Order: sequence, then C-alpha cells, then structure tokens
Amino acid sequence: MQLRTVPDAGGDTAAKVAERLAGLARLADRVAEIRRLIRGTITFSTSLGLEDQAILHAIAEAGSDIDMFMLDTGRLFPETLEALQRSEQRYGVRIRVLAPAADELEQLVARDGAFGFRLSLENRKACCEVRKVRPLKRALKGAAGWITGLRRGQSSGRAQVPFAAWDGEHGLIKLNPIADWSAEQLDAYIAANDIPVNALHARGFPSIGCQPCTRAIRPGEDIRAGRWWWESEDGKECGLHAAARTRAEATA
Ligand code: ADX
Ligand code: SF4
Repeated sequence: MQLRTVPDAGGDTAAKVAERLAGLARLADRVAEIRRLIRGTITFSTSLGLEDQAILHAIAEAGSDIDMFMLDTGRLFPETLEALQRSEQRYGVRIRVLAPAADELEQLVARDGAFGFRLSLENRKACCEVRKVRPLKRALKGAAGWITGLRRGQSSGRAQVPFAAWDGEHGLIKLNPIADWSAEQLDAYIAANDIPVNALHARGFPSIGCQPCTRAIRPGEDIRAGRWWWESEDGKECGLHAAARTRAEATA
C-alpha cells in the first residue's frame, strides 16, 4: 500500500513512515520502505559527505527509483567534485547538479564582493540563500519526498531530527533515514562497504561545505566546529534545514 502525501495527510503519512523506519535496522531496507510507502518523486540531496555517501550506497543496494541532486554553490572544494565523479562511476548513476541563478549571483557579488559573506551574518545568509536555498527550492519542485543525511548526533540543533516529518515549507515529506546513527556506526558502514568518500575527510574535515566557509578541525573539537567557525553556535545553519529543525522540535 502506498500512502498519500497531500498536505492535510502529510503529517499522518510522515508519522507512519517514521514509525516503520524506526523498526528497520538495515539502511537499504529503510530506503526501500520509503520508496514503497511514498507515491511520486522522491529526491535525495547529497553534499557527498559521509552520511550522504552511506545513503547513496543504500539506494544503489535497494535498487530504488530515487532522484538525486547536489547543489554546486560555485565555492565547493575540488575534492567534493572529484567525489561526485567517483560516486557516479562506482554506482552507475547521474546526480543532478544545480547551480545558483547567474543573475542573482552577479547581483550578490556586485553588492557584497567575492568574500562578502565574511563581513556580516546578514551577508553570509544572503550568500547561502542565493547559492544554496533558492537552488534547493528548484531541486525539490514536484517531489513528494526529500531524503537527507541529517543525524541527531551532528549538533545540538539537530538532536531531535525525526526519521520523517511533513515539511510545510516545501510541501513534501522530509526523510532522514540515518537520523539515529552515531558517527561510529556511520564510519563502520562506510568501511564495511568500501564506499568512496571525499578525500578531505582524511585531512581533518568531518563536515564539508563551501571551501571558504569550512576548515579542518583539531582533535577533540566538535564535528561541525569547522563550519562557519567565526560565527556563534546558534547561527551555524545555512537555511537548507531551518524548517525541519522547527518541525522536529515541535514533534519531538
Ligand atoms: S549544512 O546545512 O550544514 O550545509 P550538512 O553539510 O550538515 O548541511 O548536510 C546535511 C544534509 O544537507 C546533507 O546530508 C544533504 O542532504 C544536504 N546538503 C548539504 N549540502 C548540500 C549540497 N551542497 N547539495 C545537496 N545537498 C546538500
Ligand atoms: Fe556562501 Fe559560505 Fe554559504 Fe557557501 S557556505 S553559500 S560560500 S556563505
């Protein structure tokens, strides 16, 4: 049986999906269950990070029909694009690559400069908006489900991330199939399946975003300490997942 994903039923559907996922141990089974329960396009956003690589592997293993995309902000590390290429080859898939709108980008850089995002939180959010958030909206258009690699263990702001929740902002069910995984579980899955990873992980980058906004971390530092490290803890999100955080907090 497939569940409906119309807005009024969205919360119920999401709750049912979340319940089923909680009862499944294998990631490939969780992916297959998502595909089985949700009718319509399901899309997976990948940053080529460890979490996303694990999910990519599971999608391939499950053989599920799931669309995939990455947001190429124009400021990514070359290693990230190399990981994209290697992943497509290994799994025989094509991952859609979305770029920011050229006119919006030109206006942003004309106003704030090439590194304007360092000057204020407002500028930084404007940069993330043009380079990530708006392309995300385009990428999600028409989708009934959106799979991400969010984990509760990544930060205090993500501690309540559910397996599935209705995302009213995008009008779909947001799915976080490894929400409950620890970093150790993730590493073990990557190693056991010889999954290709971004070369930067071996150089002290557990969490990788745009090049100018990501640094390596020192031993003992938090895994997201290298993201927007000049900002305070509360502001360290780019806007991709703001609505989900609110929902997670509401349904926890
Ligand atoms: S971020 O909001 O701080 O940048 P993070 O790097 O932790 O997010 O990644 C969390 C999830 O957001 C990933 O698992 C992925 O689903 C999505 N994501 C982040 N960056 C991208 C990107 N450049 N392209 C596509 N999806 C992304
Ligand atoms: Fe711009 Fe940095 Fe946000 Fe990337 S992470 S979109 S460079 S502000």
